[in-house]
Amino acid sequence: MKILVTGGAGYIGSHAVEILKNSGHDVTVLDDCSTGHVDSLPPTVRFVQGSLLDSDMVSRALKGCEAVMHFAGKSLVGESVEKPDLYRKVNVDGTKVLLEQMNVLGIKKIVFSSSAATYGEPESSPISETAQCAPTNPYGETKLAIERELASAALTQQMAAVSLRYFNVAGALQTDRGWLAERHDPETHLIPNALRATSDSPLRIFGRDWDTEDGTCVRDYVHIIDLIDAHMRALQYLTPSEHHVFNIGSGTGYSVAQVVASVSRVKGSTLPTVDAPRRAGDPAVLVANIDKAEMLLNWRPVRNLNQMVEDTFKAS
Ligand code: UFG
Repeated sequence: MKILVTGGAGYIGSHAVEILKNSGHDVTVLDDCSTGHVDSLPPTVRFVQGSLLDSDMVSRALKGCEAVMHFAGKSLVGESVEKPDLYRKVNVDGTKVLLEQMNVLGIKKIVFSSSAATYGEPESSPISETAQCAPTNPYGETKLAIERELASAALTQQMAAVSLRYFNVAGALQTDRGWLAERHDPETHLIPNALRATSDSPLRIFGRDWDTEDGTCVRDYVHIIDLIDAHMRALQYLTPSEHHVFNIGSGTGYSVAQVVASVSRVKGSTLPTVDAPRRAGDPAVLVANIDKAEMLLNWRPVRNLNQMVEDTFKAS
């Protein structure tokens, strides 16, 4: 299939590109390179450098495509609090341009990378897709707003849409060109930060007084290869005029202390850490109920936390 991958030069998008290519798909990437890295891409993909807000560029990238995997967007929770307008513009307005141009060209298939940030502070755990969505930051609000645009496009332009609500994505893929690494700047995520911690710059543990078993926050980590497998299955699941939402996590929670223990094991030495205050906006526990994806997408994550840590380590 001819597929446009928006944000294909980013961490998650570049893994999707690699796996789509290896599965025989014909891939075009649209990326403005604001955070992505073109050298992550295999040389055989068609690359269009441009913004989602540039309708001519979006139209050019979409030419000949039958489906879109939509990863492009701003994705830092903290930054979204400081620059909510930027997040609305790039994420929501950018997606509107994409949907308009898809409509013009008669392209009716889209898989969107949404987020558990759409839920906000969960009322119960694990969270299922029917839980109330009350995002606690502009990033989560934009993801929810995009899901609504997709639901509307399903009704008005017969769009077949799936939104995948990611929990905590980690790990990496080895390609014939080397490892595809997570190269965020700044890096805010726990596993890469833990792997680069030193005694001079220890990992800061954001709160040890949470209402959890060991006092540190609990999250649901999913390996990026399992995540992209969910996208491949979502592509097959797309149904005209319908928008479906799926949680994509592992269904298992790990505390920050458990992640630290896993990183120490992989590195073969005790990880230097320092206790720090709670980080604003962090919920205590975020764990996915993944029954819906298991049942309807026939998807099941197979890689565990240790493998995510090991692969991130090898890629770094
Ligand atoms: N943490 C630390 N120290 C660090 C980094 C993180 O203690 O240096 C803790 C955080 O407080 C949190 C956990 O590790 O408890 C995981 O934090 P991450 O920053 O790795 O991930 P988040 O759970 O904050 O964010 C993820 C996605 C976001 C998404 C969010 C949904 O990366 O895109 O889940 O709530 F919005």
